Amino acid sequence: MSEAIRLLHAVQRLHLVSSELTGYAPWPDDVQARKIRPTPCSITRSLGSLPLRGSRITAPVIKALRRAAPELEWRQTYSKEDVGARFLDTYGYIELFGPTGHFRSAKLRGYIGYWGPDLTYDWHAHEAEELYFTLAGCAVFSAKGATNVMVRPGEARAHESDQPHLMITLDQPYLAYVLWRGNGLEGLPRMVTP
Ligand SMILES: [Fe+2]
Repeated sequence: MSEAIRLLHAVQRLHLVSSELTGYAPWPDDVQARKIRPTPCSITRSLGSLPLRGSRITAPVIKALRRAAPELEWRQTYSKEDVGARFLDTYGYIELFGPTGHFRSAKLRGYIGYWGPDLTYDWHAHEAEELYFTLAGCAVFSAKGATNVMVRPGEARAHESDQPHLMITLDQPYLAYVLWRGNGLEGLPRMVTP
């Protein structure tokens, strides 16, 4: 069994024990493996040793991610002009399942994203509705029309379709399982002025 499949199974177990996750979207029943080419990014090599503190239910996903990291297709989406060089040095994500994921699903998109300490992920938006479920670290979220919230491992933050939002990481790295649902599942986030 590949480490990517072990990671999928670890994420599935987390999804199924969390009423917040299952209440947001059922685990997709159409996931199909596809052949991927491992694609490293700036954080891939160091991911195995980075200090990622999770909770009892998120720790198995962190462990599986550390093992699978070299096999995965890491993406960054943004350019240096969008977010700056320091952001790109300590940021990366994978699409575990979804329209273009390691495992295809047309029903739900599931990412795992990593952001280094003291980063601001500036205002952005996307058509799909979104849930950030914290795996490790803490982050503060701002969203247009909503109160600022700090989330810890096991805690979630939802964004509506096209709702501008911003995230700030604190003194530890931040790792999240991110779900997209609804219209715009195949889209990408865009930087916006709130
Ligand atoms: Fe988002």
